[in-house]
Amino acid sequence: MKSSSLIALWFFVSTAGLVTTSCQPDADVLPTKEVPGTQLPNNFPAPVYGLEKNPPMQAAFELGRALFYDPQLSRTGTVSCGSCHQQASAFANAGHRMSEGIDSRLGTRNVPALQNLRWKLNFFWDGGPKNIETMPLAPITNPLEMDETLDNVLRKLNANANYQRRFAQVFGGSSPIDSYQFLRALAQFTAALTSSNSRYDHYARHEAGGVLTGAELRGLAVLRQKCTNCHAGDLFTDESFRNNGLDRHFPLDSGRAHITRSRLDAGRFKVPSLRNVALTAPYMHDGRFNTLTEVLDHYDHGMVESATLDPQLRRSGPGPGISLSAEERQNLLAFLATLTDEQFTNNSQLAE
Ligand code: HEC
Ligand code: HEC
Repeated sequence: MKSSSLIALWFFVSTAGLVTTSCQPDADVLPTKEVPGTQLPNNFPAPVYGLEKNPPMQAAFELGRALFYDPQLSRTGTVSCGSCHQQASAFANAGHRMSEGIDSRLGTRNVPALQNLRWKLNFFWDGGPKNIETMPLAPITNPLEMDETLDNVLRKLNANANYQRRFAQVFGGSSPIDSYQFLRALAQFTAALTSSNSRYDHYARHEAGGVLTGAELRGLAVLRQKCTNCHAGDLFTDESFRNNGLDRHFPLDSGRAHITRSRLDAGRFKVPSLRNVALTAPYMHDGRFNTLTEVLDHYDHGMVESATLDPQLRRSGPGPGISLSAEERQNLLAFLATLTDEQFTNNSQLAE
C-alpha cells in the first residue's frame, strides 16, 4: 500500500516536472531518493549496527550530513569532521601522514577511511570507542582535533534557528536539542557511508559487467593465499588487532595496549580494510608508507621482529615477512585497484 502510493506520488511529481519544464524539481519532494547505504550489500555479513537501530530517514540523514560538515562542532569554528575525512579519498585524508586539527595542531595517527562503519565492532586503530553513536565525542573533545565540549556544541546548535527547526522536524517536540538527538543524527550520516560498489563487488555479486582481468584475478588469488587471514572476507578485515612487523619497540604508540594495558597487545593495531586503499595513501597507523609498492616491500622484506609480532608472519628464511615475487606484487596492485568505489567517492548525497 505504502509503496504503491509512493509510486503514484513519484509518477505525479515526475510528470508534473515534465510538463512544467521551467520548474526545477524540488529535491526534498522527490520520493526516488533513498538514504545511501539503505540497501545492505548481499556480499557483506550482517551489520553490527543494523538498520533498525537508527532507521535511515532522509531528513535525519541530511541533518547528520550538515553536522558532519559543520565547523561549529569545533571550539574555534574552523574544523569539521569533513576537514579530516574527505569524500574524494573515501573519507580518509589523502596525502597527510597526520592531520591538522584545531590551531593547526597535528594529530598522532593517520586518518582512516570512513566506510562500512555499520559493520565495525569498535573504532580507531586501537579499538577504543565501541559505539558508532557516541564515538564522535572522541574527536570533538580531543584537544588536537576539535577541542570542544559537548555542552558548547549543544549550546551552539540550540542558538541556531535552522538547526532548531531541523531537529524538531526529525525528533518532534519543542524541547531543546540534546546529546541524544545530536549523536543519533550524526550517526545517520556516518552509518550511511557504505562502500560496496567497486569493480570487485560487481564481480563478487556476479553482476552485469562484473568482470576482472587476468592480472586482477591472479592478484585476488595471491591475496587469498597470503593476506586474507587478516584482511578477511568482503570487508577485507577480520577486525582483529595484529602486529604486522613495523617496529621493534613501541614507545610512541602502543596500539591496542593503549586500551587494554596489556604488554601482549603492545604494537598491535586494528587490521584496516583494503577497500578504496588506492585512494587513501599514506598507509599504516602512522602513515609511514607513501605508496602501496612500499607497503608490499614491507611485507616482503621490510619487517622487523618483536615480542608481539603476529606468528603468521614468521617464516623460515631471512626474517619475518610474506614472500612476494615481482609478478605477485604486480598482480596484487592490479587487484587492490579494483576495490576503488567511485560511486561512493562521487555520491553527491555524501558531499558537503
Ligand atoms: C583533526 C582531524 C580529525 C577530525 C576533525 C575528525 N577526525 Fe575522525 N579520525 C581522525 C583520526 C586521526 C582517526 C584515527 C584515530 C585513532 O585511531 O586513534 C579518526 C577516526 C575516526 C573514526 C573511526 C574509523 C574507524 O574505522 O575506526 C570515525 C568513525 C571518525 N573518525 C569519525 C569522525 C567524526 C564523526 C568527526 C566529527 C565529529 C571526526 N571524525 C573528526 C581524525 C579526525
Ligand atoms: C597478520 C595479519 C596481516 C596479514 C597476513 C596481512 N596484513 Fe596487511 N595489515 C595488517 C595490520 C595489523 C595492518 C595495520 C598495521 C598498522 O598500521 O600498525 C595492515 C595494514 C595493511 C595496509 C595499509 C592499509 C592502510 O589503510 O593503511 C595494506 C595496504 C595491507 N596491510 C596490505 C596487505 C597485503 C597486500 C597483505 C598480503 C600480502 C597483507 N596486508 C597481509 C595485518 C595483516
